[in-house]
Amino acid sequence: MKKIACPLALLLAASWAQADLEWAYQALEETLISFDDEPKTLPGSPNSYTQAEIDDPFTPPDWFPEDHSPMPEVVARGLDNQVRACSQCHLTSGMGHPESSQLAGLSVGYMLRQMADFRSGARKDRFWMNPISEALPEEYWQTALEYYAALEPIDWVEVIETDTVPKNYVGKGRMRFVHPDGGMEPLGNRILEFPEDPELVHLRHPYSGFEAFAPEGSIERGRGLATTGGLGKTIACNICHGEGLKGLGEVPAIAGMSPLYVVRQLNDIKTGARAGISAALMQATVVNLTEEDIVALAAYLASLDP
Ligand code: HEC
Ligand code: HEC
Repeated sequence: MKKIACPLALLLAASWAQADLEWAYQALEETLISFDDEPKTLPGSPNSYTQAEIDDPFTPPDWFPEDHSPMPEVVARGLDNQVRACSQCHLTSGMGHPESSQLAGLSVGYMLRQMADFRSGARKDRFWMNPISEALPEEYWQTALEYYAALEPIDWVEVIETDTVPKNYVGKGRMRFVHPDGGMEPLGNRILEFPEDPELVHLRHPYSGFEAFAPEGSIERGRGLATTGGLGKTIACNICHGEGLKGLGEVPAIAGMSPLYVVRQLNDIKTGARAGISAALMQATVVNLTEEDIVALAAYLASLDP
């Protein structure tokens, strides 16, 4: 017997297909949460902060100061109330949220190159890093990046394969949350990342990670592309990114990274929004990738241990 596809499913699939990879950039849609003024605390932390302090770009929280070496002033407080503190977005642990990026454990040389590419415009970030790299004098780069390079990346994201996801929205901090009204929607060819614990993430907890919902079969498909190159479609990643994709010299580690960040990077390198001299080495890897391939590679990388 012939199978007849449900017209509604086709329509929904088509509407996601038209959305390109825009979902990975997470522009703010609405703010549905409000906070009280009470000081917030965390078990095991000597500090307390109000939500206003936590969200102030020049006083982000340092919940567990004993866990890390002293932070350079730029990382902890920014510069002269002009340049935001790096830890506001990248956190004191260097793990970042899906809309920013992980810096923990990347080499200083690699990160310096990114700062220079952001400043020259060879690499474009729609939201933050171009103005930040322009405003922060170069003499501050090295120490800020050394702090992050010395941190160990932690297991940050759990990948769950599924066809449907809770209805959701991009809210405060350009983060995606489950919608309070409930309901489900088809995932389509997307990866959606939700905080494991929204309350802790609102406090900028340095160790509170994410759950990523990815299409059924994407991890296996990504593994095939990443390990064999998919019959010439791309190039096996370990040739440059090293054993376990944990980085090789100044080629960055990509195992265990936020899948949204990876989707943006592969797409940006493909479209030319990220076109630094070293990113050119990635061109041959991305040029023939479809949007499904990009999603599959991101799901696979996120499923690996950092
Ligand atoms: C307001 C948020 C915000 C602040 C503050 C911030 N960043 Fe970023 N940073 C981002 C975002 C967003 C990205 C990822 C851009 C993308 O998706 O391509 C990023 C990416 C980066 C990268 C590239 C990482 C990689 O793997 O290639 C480096 C390096 C970096 N930031 C350094 C810094 C430093 C140093 C500071 C402090 C001076 C800082 N950032 C402050 C938001 C921020
Ligand atoms: C020929 C060498 C080469 C191969 C093969 C290669 N890469 Fe890369 N990749 C690089 C280099 C070099 C960079 C850093 C670019 C820069 O400095 O801007 C990079 C950067 C990246 C980044 C951005 C990391 C970050 O922190 O922003 C991702 C994601 C990535 N590669 C994924 C992949 C995947 C997935 C594969 C396999 C399908 C792959 N790469 C294969 C050389 C390579």
